[in-house]
Amino acid sequence: MKKNISIAIDGPGGAGKSTIAKAVAAKKGLIYLDTGAMYRSLAFHAIRNGVDFSDGISDEEREIINGLWENFDLDIKYIDGLQHMFVNGEDITGFIRTPEVSMGASKVSALPEVRVRLVEMQRDFGKSADIIMDGRDIGTHVLKDATVKIFLTASAEARAKRRYDELLEKGQTVDFDTVYRELVERDKGDMTRAASPLTQAEDAILLDTTDMTLEESVAAVLKLVEEKA
Ligand code: DC
Repeated sequence: MKKNISIAIDGPGGAGKSTIAKAVAAKKGLIYLDTGAMYRSLAFHAIRNGVDFSDGISDEEREIINGLWENFDLDIKYIDGLQHMFVNGEDITGFIRTPEVSMGASKVSALPEVRVRLVEMQRDFGKSADIIMDGRDIGTHVLKDATVKIFLTASAEARAKRRYDELLEKGQTVDFDTVYRELVERDKGDMTRAASPLTQAEDAILLDTTDMTLEESVAAVLKLVEEKA
């Protein structure tokens, strides 16, 4: 039986993972799974249930989060080629990209019991299809046997500038310093947590996109994919 192709893209926020993965998926006929959207969906649901992520997660809040699973039906659907997240039947895709949800996602993702559940869903998802997944622990943990592993990064300044431009484009009022500070804080949390921290897998190829345009980054990833898959 032919083995499915699996591509793992990891790296810090704003490195261009999802835009590049989407473009590669379209070109190569792969299914794209944005795993960060799963942590974001849980964080959004937790906020709705009274969890405040502006400081650390208290024991009481951790209990609330662990109690959410009973009533947390997470569904992923592709509409016009775009990944939509549904929680209990409601499309919440439009609500999960705010700075509050970003920080909440980083914080829930540090809970080992949360990771176990979402990683299981991610592995199930990748079982029967040619897939490209992006996240923080795809090459090191979720898809350890991936056909191609890429660690995508860029300087913090370049990543913050991309995020800032994206938010401006969406019509949000933001200042660069806040975007930069939140991005660095989130990187630190994602890289220093005990459970599957963000790190480059030994067999991953490092790609620094600081001085690359989006088109150049997509071309570089496609080249790596075509060499191996
Ligand atoms: O990729 P993103 O910015 O949408 O991810 C949101 C948060 O979710 C990120 O700060 C860390 C966490 N995350 C994770 O721990 N593991 C993944 N595979 C994907 C995301």
